[in-house]
Amino acid sequence: MIVTIDGPAGAGKSSVARKLADSLGFAFLDTGAMYRCVTLQCLERGVDLNDAGRVVEIARQCEIEFRDKGVFANGVDVTDAIRDVAVSSSIKLIADNTEVRELMVKAQQMWAIGKDAVTEGRDQGTVVFPAAECKIFLTASAEERAARRCRQLHAMNKEADYEAILAAQRERDHHDTSRPVGGLVAATDATHVNTDCLSEEQVLDRLIAIVRSKQEVPNSVERSNPYPNDLSKQGEPEVGNGVA
Ligand code: C5P
Repeated sequence: MIVTIDGPAGAGKSSVARKLADSLGFAFLDTGAMYRCVTLQCLERGVDLNDAGRVVEIARQCEIEFRDKGVFANGVDVTDAIRDVAVSSSIKLIADNTEVRELMVKAQQMWAIGKDAVTEGRDQGTVVFPAAECKIFLTASAEERAARRCRQLHAMNKEADYEAILAAQRERDHHDTSRPVGGLVAATDATHVNTDCLSEEQVLDRLIAIVRSKQEVPNSVERSNPYPNDLSKQGEPEVGNGVA
């Protein structure tokens, strides 16, 4: 069974998606981390991010592995490095690149073959796994997401300007939703969960209940063709050796 979780930045997807996978005993794929790996590799090699062709070359050579809770790019542990501000502020040039997206989509589909998995991102229920048995669209109001970010920063003894965070987030939301390929949009058959006023535990309980309800539907476990946009049949993965 494939469970997709899409939604805007700051809705609390990452940590709850991972916990959901753990609770279900499913594999977990953080697709944002893949775009982050390619961005980091470009930055480390001094690649001009506006040079779309060179960026695609880097993406092709980037072998991404998920080991335990760590992320490795070409054998190097980049778990922390991919969360760097420099990566976050440059990533749109990589995530907007159509060819990079094709490589990532294909690698994600290949990774999922034969697995029960939770995958998390922006385009999982729409582009990557349109036939997933369970699709969740996780949201929270912009104000709540900005307030959460402020609380996180305060907890780390860092300064947090609510208005600036809200404005930056609105810009990111706009960019994510207006991306011509793989833009953030809820699949028509996704279950929407608004996390405003819910604790992480409550969100997790709700997601587990949604997955269980889909598991009870007899046909949901039989996927005749899980990849209707079937990139996985177009040959071997081109992102390094794929994503492991
Ligand atoms: O989820 P995360 O914040 O790590 O994603 C990093 C960036 O990668 C975001 O800007 C998002 O737009 C992009 N992304 C994407 N497609 C995905 C996952 C993330 O374009 N499936």
